[in-house]
Amino acid sequence: MTITDPTVVAAFAAPPAPSHPLASLSAAEIDAVRAVVLALPTTTERTRFAYVGLEEPHKGEILAWEQGAAVPERAARVQLLDMTTTRSSDLIVSLRTGAVLRETVLDGTAGQLPILDAEFEEVGVIANEDEAWVAALAARGLSVDDVVLVPLSAGSYGLPGEEGRRILRTFAFRQDHPKDHPWAHPVDGLTAYIDVAARAVIDIVDTPGFMVPETSGNFDDPELQGAPLEGLKPIVITQPEGSSFTVDDEHVVWGDWDLRIGFDTREGLILRQLTFKDRPVMYRGSISEMVVPYADPAPNRFWQNYFDTGEYLFGRYTNELELGCDCVGDITYVDAVLADELGAPRTVRNGVCMHEEDFGSLWKHTDIFTGSSEVRRQRRLVISFFTTVGNYDYGFFWYLYLDGTIECEAKLTGILFTSAYPGEDYPFASQVAPGLGAPYHQHLFSARLDMTVDGVANVVNEIDAVRVPVSATNPAGNAFTKQVTPITSELVSGRVADGARNRVWQIASTEQTTSLGQPTSYVLFPTETPVLLADDDSSIASRAAFATKNLFVTKYDPDERYAAGDFVNQHPGGAGIPAFIAGDEPLVGEDLVLWHTFGLTHFPRNEDWPVMPMDYAKFTLKPYNFFERNPVLNVPAPAGHCAPASGHDHSAHGHDHSAQGHAGDGHACHC
Ligand code: NI
Repeated sequence: MTITDPTVVAAFAAPPAPSHPLASLSAAEIDAVRAVVLALPTTTERTRFAYVGLEEPHKGEILAWEQGAAVPERAARVQLLDMTTTRSSDLIVSLRTGAVLRETVLDGTAGQLPILDAEFEEVGVIANEDEAWVAALAARGLSVDDVVLVPLSAGSYGLPGEEGRRILRTFAFRQDHPKDHPWAHPVDGLTAYIDVAARAVIDIVDTPGFMVPETSGNFDDPELQGAPLEGLKPIVITQPEGSSFTVDDEHVVWGDWDLRIGFDTREGLILRQLTFKDRPVMYRGSISEMVVPYADPAPNRFWQNYFDTGEYLFGRYTNELELGCDCVGDITYVDAVLADELGAPRTVRNGVCMHEEDFGSLWKHTDIFTGSSEVRRQRRLVISFFTTVGNYDYGFFWYLYLDGTIECEAKLTGILFTSAYPGEDYPFASQVAPGLGAPYHQHLFSARLDMTVDGVANVVNEIDAVRVPVSATNPAGNAFTKQVTPITSELVSGRVADGARNRVWQIASTEQTTSLGQPTSYVLFPTETPVLLADDDSSIASRAAFATKNLFVTKYDPDERYAAGDFVNQHPGGAGIPAFIAGDEPLVGEDLVLWHTFGLTHFPRNEDWPVMPMDYAKFTLKPYNFFERNPVLNVPAPAGHCAPASGHDHSAHGHDHSAQGHAGDGHACHC
């Protein structure tokens, strides 16, 4: 149903069509969307754009287009919030005609639109005008000028007066001067619950008795840093002939890999249509959601858990990267074009970083019988972005390797979320500096992996290593084997990693086999860390159901995009994965999407203060019987003295580099 006034549509000037139907929205397209929205009768001066992004065509349409069918509809998804009335709507706008193809108005009972920067900015003003808040600060010897506020997503706890309203909860942190990092000085025991649209503090939770920690968090202060570490000589990475990949309008070619990249306000970097040696592997990969649930049950912070994707749209906080600082070597940057809250295009310069990295030996053997001694070097293509969401900074790094391996790594740094340490071996927080607490928490990411392993007919098998008891066939008891269990339908697809069983998940073609008759496949290697630790009956377990398992599998559905559902902010729970699997679709020989939860459980340590050294969480996808043999025998040997065919006696060759006097040729292939 088209619901736009036809006269408005008639005046619409279509922006230039993109080169590919999955291209990220251009600045001209974002401008066109804004023009359509501004002409709507429901748009007011207080309307803000909570989200603007590509409304992707159905996968079937894209695959058909590649075979010569018509170009799919080009459309944008737009989410609008009226800051005064809180009217919240979710629209699909045609970029060909300007017609609004669909409009859904949220009623507030099943989640809210994401939180806007404009709302964060108003929280301070509203709180500072509230007498009770000012009095609570005064009781702690503080004025509104002494503190900064940290507004946070509210969650959903059925608290009186909150239903249907957009709520933010805020803490105060004392800041002693403009360069003072306030995270060192949490004003604990004081929280305001705020309705931004009504411009009202609706509740204050005041638990007296906490001291404000006095430690310094000023990691950028040379005095705290101490004398510079001496003796670090330069590391210079050079690629005299340039890098080995090409990027042409989001289309990337490197070695045997071919893919597209995209960027979205909500999900950040998206990898699309990955093929290896011209065979499809993954149609789309992204971080569809992440949640940071905190473990402290204290009255002021039991509600702390942040969905940095669904509630905050972490893609919009993407850093503009600096050559030589964030990325070294021969770097290619790609800008990200997003919409700001007034609907205007905004360019994040150098938002995506791409480069090649040497990654040590790829394969190697020195043969005792033939004298053959060969080595090849591995390298990887790195595609990454960094985003800052409040106190934390997250990097998301996708690695493509020469041998067909795909890896996704989350990098975590920034500042701990702090509290006043209550003392006496408090069981829910670490003390990381005198009087300064850091509540225990998890970082759980949901990778949405729309797999297409040799086509869309796939099955996921769970593969466990299993012991075999002593028997007539195993008289010595040495046997062990693997157990392969197909995941046959959505309701049985919830799986937990098990390192004791070497558990992996195989995404296998149900149509293609090797010449040996094995299904061609990729295997997902999880990292075994805890899933959501909150109680099954908690609010967060219902809202972040995706995080209660390491894996869910669903049949492809274009409307199933985000692991915790579309409207995560204040959603009471049950959206996303529980809704996606409720239909219990069969999964054998179907077009499948894997939802993989990976992450960290963080008991903060002193070394994490005042700024955290990088931590990491990752998963890996490797080809498994996708090829007939090692697919990288053809990688050329490193240049220099370790080129093959010499059949040289390695032991006699010696390792006295100074005596050989080679200048840089040999070190890279050591050998
Ligand atoms: Ni952490």
